[in-house]
Amino acid sequence: MGRQQDTDLEVKLERLRAEINSGLSDLVKHHQPSELYDSVRYVLSGGGKRVRPVLLVLSAEVFGVGIRHTMPLALAVELIHNFSLVHDDIMDHADSRRGRKTVHVLWNIDTAILCGDVLLALAAECIGRATSGDPAQLTRAFGRMIRELCEGQALDMVIGNSQNLTTGDYLHMVDGKTGGLLSASLEMGGIAGKADPDSCLALREAGKFIGRAFQINDDLLDLVADDQRWGKVQGGDLMEGKGTYLLTEARQRATGEDATFFAGIYPGSGLTEEEIPKAQARMEALGVLDAAREHVHSYTHQALDRIRSLSGNTTELHALIQEIGSRIY
Ligand code: IPE
Ligand code: IPE
Ligand code: MG
Ligand code: MG
Ligand code: MG
Repeated sequence: MGRQQDTDLEVKLERLRAEINSGLSDLVKHHQPSELYDSVRYVLSGGGKRVRPVLLVLSAEVFGVGIRHTMPLALAVELIHNFSLVHDDIMDHADSRRGRKTVHVLWNIDTAILCGDVLLALAAECIGRATSGDPAQLTRAFGRMIRELCEGQALDMVIGNSQNLTTGDYLHMVDGKTGGLLSASLEMGGIAGKADPDSCLALREAGKFIGRAFQINDDLLDLVADDQRWGKVQGGDLMEGKGTYLLTEARQRATGEDATFFAGIYPGSGLTEEEIPKAQARMEALGVLDAAREHVHSYTHQALDRIRSLSGNTTELHALIQEIGSRIY
């Protein structure tokens, strides 16, 4: 894309994100009781990059269907994403998200469970308001998205405990917990645009690869992000002993003393804050951080290949995926 087109797309994306934000806030403006909806309003007004709804909108536009028809679907995928984050933060014992306290810390675990549940219910209601796309197809994609997310999160719970975890095991988990939502976002855009089955499959595949790039980058940024917009605890994954790309790769590459060091990091046996720089230096020396960067790059390109196979104008969707692949927060 040329420089002018880049700027035009940025302006369009900003407008789109603003529309999504106001759509989300309108959804729960008057809902009661406040014991439940205060936390929901807190989550939905707390920022976030809105990656999934924007992907959905641009995916449908490839097939000539505009935002007027895709907004309810876009809101649905963002609601599901937020549901997953609220519950994920309980599971990961995470204290901060988007630069603010997490729901279970600010309120309590019971409230956070219900907050996530009701976000899911709101998403289902949005799917029922869709004005383009076969309802049965949309419902199936919606169910599959949540099922794959749960399957991935279940694997995530145990994966850090496995000492001989392969990169394949890690990717299998990521294809569920991260790819499920991204694939469904692109696919639902295709369904809304009445795309043929081959195109829907290409969109799902693209979503899977974006998911891999996105999660490997997330695991990397968890250690090295220096942008204040990151908003999560730096080194939090190592402190929790999570089975991330970095730990998986480090365990596979390490020998001798390094191997003993990385074998000692698992859920329930995380590092202290003071130990993080030492772990980072060991990973750097083993080439783990460079390998992560290379994988983010190559999976982004695999996603772009799938997008290029679609007929229709894919310029903006292509540029958006490139931008997601180079995010720094
Ligand atoms: C965080 O997703 C969860 C992952 C899949 C890694 P985002 O990085 O899209 O979170 P927000 O919505 O922008 O906060
Ligand atoms: C992705 O994994 C979260 C979900 C798919 C819900 P993480 O646990 O790494 O996400 P963050 O880092 O907390 O956002
Ligand atoms: Mg998690
Ligand atoms: Mg987490
Ligand atoms: Mg993370």
